[in-house]
Amino acid sequence: TVEYSLRPTSLKQYIGQQKVKENLSIFIEAAKMRNEPLDHVLLYGPPGLGKTTLASIIANELGVQFRSTSGPAIERAGDLAAILSSLEAGDVLFIDEIHRLPRTVEEVLYPAMEDFFLDIVIGSGPSARSVRLDLPPFTLVGATTRAGLLSAPLRDRFGVLSRLEFYQVEDLCSIVERTAEIFAAPIQKDAAIEIARRSRGTPRIANRLLKRVRDISQVKGESEISKETTQQALQMLQVDAAGLDHIDHKLLLNIMDGFNGGPVGLDTIAATIGEESQTIEDVYEPFLLQIGFIQRTPRGRMLTPKAYKHFKREVPKG
Ligand code: ADE
Repeated sequence: TVEYSLRPTSLKQYIGQQKVKENLSIFIEAAKMRNEPLDHVLLYGPPGLGKTTLASIIANELGVQFRSTSGPAIERAGDLAAILSSLEAGDVLFIDEIHRLPRTVEEVLYPAMEDFFLDIVIGSGPSARSVRLDLPPFTLVGATTRAGLLSAPLRDRFGVLSRLEFYQVEDLCSIVERTAEIFAAPIQKDAAIEIARRSRGTPRIANRLLKRVRDISQVKGESEISKETTQQALQMLQVDAAGLDHIDHKLLLNIMDGFNGGPVGLDTIAATIGEESQTIEDVYEPFLLQIGFIQRTPRGRMLTPKAYKHFKREVPKG
């Protein structure tokens, strides 16, 4: 499908995250020269920045198979054993949301990562015994929103830790132009910049906005996506000039009007706007922190003067 082909397949095609790419390309090259599997890699950072894409690129660059699963999908040690024992030497196993692996599964993973074997308990009660199953050497690529969500023993078993950052507008603009080309939907430069500026530093959002803008442009019968249409589409989608959507607005206005700008605890905010604390912390808050609209203090979240300015409001006194 088109959706699939949007994903770049090599480091060369992958735009942005310069430091992460530089490091990975050296480690990949060295592993290939030694004919060894690449060390285990932990990718962390907010959703939509390309962790899954990067994991599949690592497999491509190594010339090995890419196997993909997620923390919540592996319920028992046996599920993990089934996956690990079906790998071929050097393969990449990608575990998304790795912080959600059950603890019992995590413990089975330690010797697998460290020495490529599994200790499996067969039977139960007095007749239970442990057998050792040797595994092909493999590379685990784990992804999580925050490295701090992982237990220390799991985190310590990754040799490469790469943090993905929000993208610069220039990089997002290149991504929008690349995607538009794949869609065969010509876009004017200033329209691509407008989408890039309003995508919260996140390629997944940029590509989603581009699709909706393209719909409107097409219905209007434009030969090229214009800035005017882009602005109109983004207004329809309730994405403001800073890229904030209606949930960001709800969150910020709630702290502003309900708590006089804070400080207010995360769980209180979550309860009053009807979103999960975890979703706020992983999806909404990182970008609001990055653009300096909120601050974390020991007593909770606080709005900054910049947030008040965005809503053209006076900063409360005191
Ligand atoms: N599409 C989504 N993210 C991308 C990236 N970082 N580089 C190229 N294309 C992308």
